[in-house]
Order: sequence, then structure tokens, then C-alpha cells
Amino acid sequence: MERYVINGGTCLRGEVEISGAKNAAVAIIPAALMVEGVCVIENMPQISDTEMLLTILRELGAKIRFLNRSTVEIDCTSVRMQDAPYDLMRKIRASYYLIGAMLARFGHAKTTMPGGCNFGVRPIDQHIKGMTALGADVDIKNGFVYADTRDGKLHGARIYLDKVSVGATMNIILAATLAQGRTIIENAAREPHIVDLANFLNSMGADIRGAGTDTVKINGVEKLHGGSYAIIPDQIEAGTYMVAAAATGGEVLIKNVIPRHLECISAKLRETGTIVSEYGDAVLVKGASNLRKVNVKTLPYPGFPTDMQPPIAALLCVANGTSVITEGVYDNRFKYVNELRKMGAEIQVDGRVAVIEGGRRLTGAPVLACDLRAGAAMVIAGMVAQGTTVIEDVHYIERGYENFVGKLNALGADIRIVDFAEPGSGKEKIISIG
Ligand code: UD1
Repeated sequence: MERYVINGGTCLRGEVEISGAKNAAVAIIPAALMVEGVCVIENMPQISDTEMLLTILRELGAKIRFLNRSTVEIDCTSVRMQDAPYDLMRKIRASYYLIGAMLARFGHAKTTMPGGCNFGVRPIDQHIKGMTALGADVDIKNGFVYADTRDGKLHGARIYLDKVSVGATMNIILAATLAQGRTIIENAAREPHIVDLANFLNSMGADIRGAGTDTVKINGVEKLHGGSYAIIPDQIEAGTYMVAAAATGGEVLIKNVIPRHLECISAKLRETGTIVSEYGDAVLVKGASNLRKVNVKTLPYPGFPTDMQPPIAALLCVANGTSVITEGVYDNRFKYVNELRKMGAEIQVDGRVAVIEGGRRLTGAPVLACDLRAGAAMVIAGMVAQGTTVIEDVHYIERGYENFVGKLNALGADIRIVDFAEPGSGKEKIISIG
């Protein structure tokens, strides 16, 4: 029952180092299952989603050891097909990558339906369409996904995705890497983590071209070999610190980033009056004293990321004027708005559109982290608000932000992690102030 207790009204100043990309790491760990050899993976973020996936691999027989805080060595040479721990798979969205990776390595897979943040119905029909086109029989029964090849091998195919899906694109890349023949994915997603997964697999001997465009071509190879790889910096973690710096009127140098991946976020922040300066592998964000309204529409990359929608909404609550956010990816990603309203925000939601009457003075309140990015939005709102905000369900936040509280406090935030393990006892335990 850990909660974040935030004393608001602070202004972020200083430097912060961005960790490896969550959405790349959660595909690269299952990809390591396909490698017969030792993979040394640098820039692995220390978050609960990666911890869970590493535990799943360990339980499947992988040898895993950390060489330092962010470098992990994974050896799946002697892994044999067996049931993966379902209680862990159920908790994370990215467990769907085990379907592609296990099919590629063993010719069959049994996983749970994926978990993760609840933004309404999140089907995996495009993943299944891809696996079926590659020759697998896929069946969903009692919350489990069963996938089997008839002759132990997948066969390359031409696959057109009906929906631009990050997960389906990456899952099909995984499965097709060890398939016989050539696979072409059309209408593929183009996110930076897709390029990162392809680069990881190519450095282990795969033959994947076109990742980052809407057509990805994969020539299947017999085997993957071991090697070393460094995961790209996390676009959304960086974007969250950019928005937090702007919302609090601070000045933060955000280091270890790829500024090109942040262009869509930088452009929107500049429209609010925030100054964003790009350097080689860093961006400097200087908040304006009078933030201006903006309209935002979330779209697949290179559009404005849906995962940045809740954080920018928190900022727009205090920007002057009326902003309109249109959610272009998910049907139901505004549940957290109720929590912002508890802090004094004025937001109307109609389907996929939220209208924010800005210029409000937010005040601290007890709120919930409804999901990972909604939780980040509550933290930003809590830092901007007058008074104390207590955020519950922070385990969502810890799925995707490495040392969030420590990094923010180093920038001048006032956040404590408090364990309310004994409700009513009056005994609260401060777990961390840094
Ligand atoms: C990934 C990210 C998530 C991000 C999202 C969009 C991971 C682990 N998660 O999620 O943080 O918010 O990309 O950038 O990388 N869809 C279907 N059928 C499918 C697959 C998707 O209809 O088979 C729909 C989804 O419901 C959604 C849209 O397509 O409306 C995009 O989803 P997708 O890109 O697949 O997101 P995820 O891979 O789940």
C-alpha cells in the first residue's frame, strides 16, 4: 500500500538522466529467448515490467545476471519449452511478445491473454492475424492463448495490418525472424522501439529491413547468435520530465535522449511558450511564466504519443485558455480526468475528446494513479498544485518509470513514498524521500 505524498508548489531545476526505453526493453527481453548464445543488454531500465519479464525468462530456464545496475546478461541457450508463470504474464501487456518469441524458438506457445493498463478493450486480433498468416494455429480458451505450428516451423508471408499496431508489428517481427522465407508487414507501426527491436535482432544475426517505415521486410534466418546491444533512451520518460519541467515553470536539462524522437513533444511544448533547446543527446526545457493553451491529437509515431496524453493534460490544466485533446489511438483513455477534477481541474470529456478550461489553480487532494501514464500525470499535477497530494496505486507508475521519485526529488520536488500498510493504526512508514 505505498503512496506518494507530494508537497506541491515546487519548481524543477537541474539535470536528469533518462533510462532505457520500457517499450523496447519489454520486447527485447522476450527476443533474447530466441537467441542461442549470450546476450549482453545495456541500458536496461530498472522497472517492474522488465523485472517481471526477466523473472519469466528465469523460470523458463534462462541464466540471467546483472553485470552492473543497467547491464544484464541473458543466456537462453538451454531453455526448453515449458509452461511460463501465468500469474506474472497476466500482469503485463508485453507478455504478448512471448507468443511470437516462443513460436519462433519452439514452434508452439502457451501464454495468458495480456494484462497492462486498461484503456478499454485492447484486442490482439492483429497479432493473431499475423501468427496465423505465418502458419500457426492460434486458439484462445479460458484466458489462454495457444499457438502451434503444424511442422514445427513458421513460414514467411505477406501481412497487411488492418490497424497500425505497435505490439502486432513487433510480435510479427519476432515470429518471422526465424521463419522459413520472407515476411513483409504492410501498414506497420513506426515507433522508435520497433527500430530498436529490429536493430537488436539484426545484431544477433537476423535479417530485418525497413523497420521505422510502414513496410518491414524480414528474411527468416536459421539461428540467432549472442552479442551485445544497448537499448535506446525512453521517449516517454524523457517527454514526462519535459512536461514536468514546463508545468512547474522550471529549467531542466534532460540527458541521454535522442532529440529526434522527442520532436513531436518539443513542438507542442514550444506552442505553449516553453523554450526547448536541443543538444547532441540532451534537451533543455525552460518553462514559461505564462503557459498558453494548445490543441493536441494523439497519433501513431511520428504523431504526438498517446502515452504523453495524460501528462500534457496535467500541464494544460494550468495553461491559459481552452485546450482540446483528441485521443486518436484508444477508445477510453480519459478515466484519470476524474482524479484531476478532484484537484480543481475543469475538464469536459466527450468520447475521445477532452476540453480543458485552463488557467486553474490546482489544489492538493487524495487521488488514484489509474494507470502508468495517468499516474505520471497525477505526479505532475501534484507538483504544480498548492498543498499536499496523496497518490494511491503507485505500483502502476513503477511499471514504467525508473526511480521516478528519486529523480524528481533530485530536481527539487518534495515527494515521499509512504507505506500505509497498517490502515487505521496511525503508523505510517516513510520508505523513501530520495
Ligand atoms: C503499445 C505500448 C503502449 C502504447 C501503445 C501505442 C507496449 C508494451 N505498449 O501498446 O504503451 O500506448 O503501443 O503507442 O509497447 N489494436 C487492435 N488490435 C490489435 C492490436 C491493437 O485493434 O491486435 C488497437 C488497440 O486497441 C489500439 C490501437 O490498435 O486502439 C493501437 O494499439 P497498439 O499500437 O497495438 O498498442 P500496444 O502494442 O498494446
